[in-house]
Amino acid sequence: MERLLVYGSYGYTGRLIVDEAVSRGQSPTVAGRDGRKVTAQAREHGLEARTFSLEDDIPSHLAEFDAVLNCAGPFVETAEPLVEACLETETDYLDITGEFRVFERIRRRDVRARDAGVTLLPGVGFDVVPSDCLAAFLADQLPTADRLAIGVQGMDSRRGIPTPADVSRGTAKTLFSGAGTTNVVRKNGALVRVPLGFRSRTIDFGDGPEHAVAIPLGDVVTAAQTTGIENVEVYAAMPSWAGSAMAALESIGWLLESRPVQKLARPAIDALIDGPGESALKTGETVVWGEVGDGERIVRARIRTPNPYALTAKSAVEAAKRVLDGGVPAGAQTPATAFGSEFVLECSDSEREVLETPAAVDLEK
Ligand SMILES: NC(=O)c1ccc[n+]([C@@H]2O[C@H](COP(=O)([O-])OP(=O)(O)OC[C@H]3O[C@@H](n4cnc5c(N)ncnc54)[C@H](OP(=O)(O)O)[C@@H]3O)[C@@H](O)[C@H]2O)c1
Repeated sequence: MERLLVYGSYGYTGRLIVDEAVSRGQSPTVAGRDGRKVTAQAREHGLEARTFSLEDDIPSHLAEFDAVLNCAGPFVETAEPLVEACLETETDYLDITGEFRVFERIRRRDVRARDAGVTLLPGVGFDVVPSDCLAAFLADQLPTADRLAIGVQGMDSRRGIPTPADVSRGTAKTLFSGAGTTNVVRKNGALVRVPLGFRSRTIDFGDGPEHAVAIPLGDVVTAAQTTGIENVEVYAAMPSWAGSAMAALESIGWLLESRPVQKLARPAIDALIDGPGESALKTGETVVWGEVGDGERIVRARIRTPNPYALTAKSAVEAAKRVLDGGVPAGAQTPATAFGSEFVLECSDSEREVLETPAAVDLEK
């Protein structure tokens, strides 16, 4: 029997993932740094529990497991110690990050992971399962494509700002920890820093053209890895005032990312944000849009997905199961290199729609 450890299991998303796994008859071991919370969760579901922090001797806690699913974010703080321990103990690693830095750091461990026979599979949640599968699908339709744009329409994008009912505490902390982050796109194969709010375009997510602004989601690393396309931009739908506000943040980014401000912000996030409740999880569908081009032709498609947290629970559990079942190659993988472009349709109630592609479009404009 293959054994899975879920780390950060008692956080908002970790709980959804453990509940989903248990409802599918699985028995992951739950883990985290707060012994009281891990034990209570384990008791509730009749599971085994492990308590350790990421400053402990992690390999000694992983040796008995075949795979770890890391749900403890911001992942920029948790992924590396767990990945290093997984490489040492030959344990497969999965997580639900959407942070481009984390994808890039894990991608750089590809050769070491292959040598160790270990699968490293970050991004098995809403970031980046639908967009990565869409990128793979589009690249298959147009193998000569040399540019890719992804667009994400989350929450009510015309409203612009997520409310406490839209996001979890961990997501808010992760967004805030990168609040002053200079934006990143992939240009001619390289990650290139660009100012926040620097580029916008309109995208039709299904209800007519919407304003969308380039943001640094993980696809700037993963989509390039999946498709080999060297020019990748990722957009989020938002009102134009929100894009201007992002551009204004650029000048005070150093302040937002400073230790004192981050220290003050985290308790405020804990006090104000709960995460989507049960009914919100059943609503809040999103649309992920994609476009590839080769200078002469373009192909566009959209995927309509359930609520991102509901999708994350299903895609993460299914990804962990497939890794444990075997057959996923060693090395740094993306959801689509591991499972193919249909994975998002297979693991969730998502629908893909191929759009008409009448004319050539220069994505540089
Ligand atoms: N890919 C996606 O689409 C997707 C979807 C949902 C969530 N996420 C990401 O997943 C992460 C967690 O979100 P959440 O909603 O579950 O947040 P949450 O409710 O705040 O839970 C975070 C969990 O991580 C643990 N943790 C955080 N930092 C840690 C550290 N340094 N060492 C050990 N444990 C640590 C927390 O333990 P303590 O309580 O002991 O601090 C808690 O168990 C966020 O980064 C979020 O952005 C991604």
